[in-house]
Amino acid sequence: MFNCLRICIHNYIMRCYGKCVNIYSICEKCLFKVLFVYKFYCLEFQKRIYLFNITSMIFKSDKKRIFSGVQPSGNLHIGNYLGAIKNWVELQDKYESIFCVVDMHAITAPQDPEMLRKKTIEIAKIYLAAGIDPRKSSIFIQSHVSEHAELMWVLNTIAKISELDKMTQFKDKAQKTGRESAGVGLYDYPVLMAADILLYDTEVVPVGEDQKQHVELARDLAKRFNSKFGETFIVPEVHIKKEGMRVMGLDNPEKKMSKSAESIYNRIELLDDVETIRKKIRKAVTDSGSEIVYSDEKPALKNLINIHSSFSGKTPKEIEAIFKGKGYGDFKADLAEVIIAFLQPFQEKFSNLSDEDVLRVLNDGKEKVRKIAKEKMDEVKKRVGFVIIK
Ligand code: AMP
Ligand code: TRP
Repeated sequence: MFNCLRICIHNYIMRCYGKCVNIYSICEKCLFKVLFVYKFYCLEFQKRIYLFNITSMIFKSDKKRIFSGVQPSGNLHIGNYLGAIKNWVELQDKYESIFCVVDMHAITAPQDPEMLRKKTIEIAKIYLAAGIDPRKSSIFIQSHVSEHAELMWVLNTIAKISELDKMTQFKDKAQKTGRESAGVGLYDYPVLMAADILLYDTEVVPVGEDQKQHVELARDLAKRFNSKFGETFIVPEVHIKKEGMRVMGLDNPEKKMSKSAESIYNRIELLDDVETIRKKIRKAVTDSGSEIVYSDEKPALKNLINIHSSFSGKTPKEIEAIFKGKGYGDFKADLAEVIIAFLQPFQEKFSNLSDEDVLRVLNDGKEKVRKIAKEKMDEVKKRVGFVIIK
């Protein structure tokens, strides 16, 4: 019966507005709302107005919006998956989700143009293979929506040098060249990130812990803009998965696993083959002693147990119990198999995706998000006093 009602409403809307709507996205509650109001407003001229309001009521999602992204630089690793992407997959049912491949952020470090193009598509494929569903979430490439750069410029005018000077990621990354030779883009990176977030009225930003400081800047800039020019931006919340801990380097548990770490033994990459995974886990540094115990005094082992726990779903206590009386060799062998059990089907999905499929998804995503970005940017232009010719 509900499907029959959905089809009636679908046909009605198609007739009146020529819009294609997904009839299955109407929940039972909304169907009743429509029918209830429809019953009372059947006069022809009123019918259009009320149905228009009702359709906007239904199709304007009342879910909160999330936005996040990953740079198409280097090879994605299990830290990126556990700290960010896994979380997105879980959140996409609850939130209206926008996931971006942030190529404009990637060029704040030198990139080979051909490689950047390849990696951009690869990241989008990784999103899809990891379970981001393009029917639920919008996936797009940052440089395809020019409003990101436009908003960044406006936000640059209210961001303070002292705020950017505090950013630990900049300090870390600028260490390589020294502050004086670091690029302006690298310095300004957090303002572009704030533009990404604020452009879409993002309410929640799911990221790894290392991005918290950047989201805090986005919050401060939103508040500052609102108080200077009037309510324009939503002040976003950061969302860090409790156990989405910082995955530490396999070669150094003091530093996070990173795409840019020089040694390949720092990380398990999402596209590593089985033998490489086994080898990297075998070579992972461990602490003194031989028992499998989860403790702050054994940071290397703690990191490995955390990784095991994230993939196997077992708690650190359960893992300790399983390996009681056994040594690092047994634990590491099992850890490698637990990671492989996740990565093998993931890689299969990844290789079944063609570039054409992904480009289609990215194009659809761009079309969807562009409207939101344009609307917000028009509002910003009005607020700051730019002349707008309709
Ligand atoms: P990046 O590799 O800097 O482009 O980061 C992409 C996303 O992965 C961000 O949300 C990061 O916070 C997250 N991330 C990167 N490295 C790690 C790590 N070692 N542990 C947990 N999350 C991470
Ligand atoms: N800076 C983030 C990272 O390196 C990527 C990113 C860019 C991002 N823009 C964003 C994350 C907006 C969340 C929201 O991980």
